[in-house]
Amino acid sequence: MTQRALGATGPSVHPLGLGLMGMSDFYGPADTAESHATIDAAIEAGMDLLDTGDFYGSGHNELLLREALRRHDRDRLRLSVKFGAMRDPHGDLVGFDGSPAGVKNSLAQTLQRLGTDHVDIYRPARLDPRVPIEETVGAISEMVEAGHVRHIGLSEVSADTIRRAAAVHPIVDLQIEYSLLSRGIEAEILPACRELGIGITAYGVLSRGLLSGRWDRNQHEDPRSRFPRFQGENLDHNLGLVEQLRSVAEEKGADVAQVAIAWALAKGEDIVPLVGARRRERLNEALGALDLRLTAEDVAAIERAVPPESAAGQRYDEHGMALLDSERGGRDGTS
Ligand SMILES: NC(=O)c1ccc[n+]([C@@H]2O[C@H](COP(=O)([O-])OP(=O)(O)OC[C@H]3O[C@@H](n4cnc5c(N)ncnc54)[C@H](OP(=O)(O)O)[C@@H]3O)[C@@H](O)[C@H]2O)c1
Repeated sequence: MTQRALGATGPSVHPLGLGLMGMSDFYGPADTAESHATIDAAIEAGMDLLDTGDFYGSGHNELLLREALRRHDRDRLRLSVKFGAMRDPHGDLVGFDGSPAGVKNSLAQTLQRLGTDHVDIYRPARLDPRVPIEETVGAISEMVEAGHVRHIGLSEVSADTIRRAAAVHPIVDLQIEYSLLSRGIEAEILPACRELGIGITAYGVLSRGLLSGRWDRNQHEDPRSRFPRFQGENLDHNLGLVEQLRSVAEEKGADVAQVAIAWALAKGEDIVPLVGARRRERLNEALGALDLRLTAEDVAAIERAVPPESAAGQRYDEHGMALLDSERGGRDGTS
């Protein structure tokens, strides 16, 4: 399996990373035993980039990962951890802390929860509007110097913020939503990353399951139904796009999810899709995308099925959109 480098200064990793978020949070109940089996299967398949956040389940996700790490060789795994989002005991988001003291405090707790002496890639989950990015990245770089962090990453920030951060310390990757339904990074953010030698770890490649070809429109209890793209006429429109993609997938003898993941992989060697599979069956489906060889004609056919900016609805609700530095600049937020 050809590895992909995370930027010019980061480690090489398996072309697909595993995102653990849904195993603790946001997507409704997860089966803990199956979550562990999925992590094990991913590592056994050679996947070595594992993404978590200290606020995913308010620590639950890191504790889940800690247990999994006991069964594996931690040193061959790359742990990517997001910090900064603060939540109350109900799970409600109550702010962000990207202050230097906040960086160090969050990291100390993460190291304790994960049972490790270092994090491979440490990143603020969102830009803290009260703290210049230089201060946040400066504090993480002190932690690099002290040996507690190997590399610095970013999440959902604008090209301007990326440039400012990279002037303080090398940035290995930007974690950001990128999929057939969310192509907003192509205008400015992706070119800036390429210019600066920063990789992309793309999340939401399946648009949180909407692009999987398996979304059931009756999943009203699922917390994802609060996202604009999963609601009412938006959902009807978006599932129509999925059906167009299904026609292309069937011609390739593949599943919708596999084509969506293969498309992201085909958009550049510097892109590592993070798949959010919570079950082995879905993980295996995602891994099948690596066997799909898309030609330029295939990519064109996929993009005709789901054209840029064809998604209906913003990618987060109004509150979530307001937290995205990456969406600054007056774009319509459908990316
Ligand atoms: N930086 C950020 O702001 C940010 C935001 C969101 C997420 N993330 C990271 O990115 C990771 C992935 O994000 P995501 O969960 O939105 O990704 P996603 O891969 O777009 O969606 C995952 C959902 O798709 C479903 N699915 C259906 N078929 C699948 C298949 N073949 N392979 C994988 N999943 C399939 C999964 O179902 P099952 O539940 O049945 O497995 C899961 O519910 C997260 O775990 C997190 O680590 C980062």
